[in-house]
Amino acid sequence: MTRAAISGLGTAKGHKVVTNHDLAKTLDTTDEWIVERTGIHERRIGGSCLELGGQAAKIALKQAEIDATDLDLIICSTCTPDQVFPAVSNRIQNELGATCGAFDLNAACSGFTYGISLAQSQIAAGMERVLVVGVDTLSRFTDWDDRSTAILFGDGAGAVVMQPTSRDDRGVLSTYMGSEGRFADLLTCDFSDLFIRMDGKEVFRQAVRVMVSASRRVLADAGMEASEVDAVVPHQANARIIESAMKRLGIPLERAATVLESTGNTSSASIPLAMDSAVCKGSIQDGDLVLLVGFGAGMSVAAALLRWGQ
Ligand code: ACO
Repeated sequence: MTRAAISGLGTAKGHKVVTNHDLAKTLDTTDEWIVERTGIHERRIGGSCLELGGQAAKIALKQAEIDATDLDLIICSTCTPDQVFPAVSNRIQNELGATCGAFDLNAACSGFTYGISLAQSQIAAGMERVLVVGVDTLSRFTDWDDRSTAILFGDGAGAVVMQPTSRDDRGVLSTYMGSEGRFADLLTCDFSDLFIRMDGKEVFRQAVRVMVSASRRVLADAGMEASEVDAVVPHQANARIIESAMKRLGIPLERAATVLESTGNTSSASIPLAMDSAVCKGSIQDGDLVLLVGFGAGMSVAAALLRWGQ
C-alpha cells in the first residue's frame, strides 16, 4: 500500500495575545491558578478560519514546493466554521487558486488527525497531493464571563501537504479514528447560546483514557512498542492531561511536544501547531517515530503513527 508523508507544514496564530494576567482583570482567577491547573500562560485570539487556514496552507504549499493548482484534494478540519455554509475548505481553495475538490470535517479537536487518516486513504487510492488544514476560532464561541472555560481556548491554524513517500521506511504507518458518543454531552456548543459548555473534570478523565487506548491501538497495528516512539504530538488541551497520558503509556514526558503554554487549546490546530514547534526545535527529525493523538468533543479520538521524513 502506498504510504503518505508530510512534505510541507505551515501554521498561523490569532493576532492578539491575551495573557492570564489580562483575563484576571475581568474574571475571578489568577495567573498561578491557570498555570498550575492547565499549563497555559497566554493564548492568541482573532482572525477568521479563512484567514488563518489560508495563511497556514500557503506556507505548507511553499515548503512542499508545489502549486495549489496541482492539489488533488483539500480537507479542512474545523468545528468553528466562518459560516454554516459554504465550507471553509471551499473558500481556502479559492484563496489558494486551487481547482481540486474540497470539504470540511468536524471531529472537534480530533479533526486534524482524522484528516491525516483520510489523506492517507486517498493517497493509497491514487491521489498524489492532499492538503489537510486544521483551523479553529474557539474565541468566537467562548463565554468570556465563564472562568472555567474562558482560560482554556485560543485561535489558530496548521496545515500539511501529504504526498506518497519516496522511501519505503517513511510516512504513515497506522491510523485510528474513534468515537464514544455516549460522552457527547460532556462538551457542547449548542445553537441556543453558541457558548462552549463543559464538564471539565469528566472530560479530563475520559481524555486520558481514550488517548492512551488510541495510542496503544496504532502502535499495535504497526507492530511497534511505546518505548520506540521518539516524539508524541498530543492535542494541546491541558498539560496535566498530557502528563497523565504519557505516564500511562510509559513514554518519558520530554518526548511530548507542547505549545499550549503560548497558544491555549486551539482545537483542530493544536496538533499541527505543536508539531511545527517540535520540528523547529529539532525534537522531531528525519527517521523519528512520531505519534499524533487527539481527543475532543463527541467524544472523538484519533491517532496516527508515522515515520518522519519523505
Ligand atoms: N480560576 C480560579 N478558580 C477556578 C477557575 C479559574 N479559572 N476555574 C474553576 N475554578 C474553581 C472551581 O470553581 C472550583 O472551585 P470550588 O472547589 O470552590 O468548587 C475549583 O476551582 C476546582 O475546579 P475544578 O473544575 O475541579 O478544577 P480542575 O482541576 O478540574 O481544572 C479544568 C479545571 C482546567 C477545566 C480541567 O478540568 C480541564 O482541563 N479539563 C479538561 C478540559 C479539556 O480538555 N477540554 C477539552 C476541550 S477539547 C474540544 O473539543 C473543544
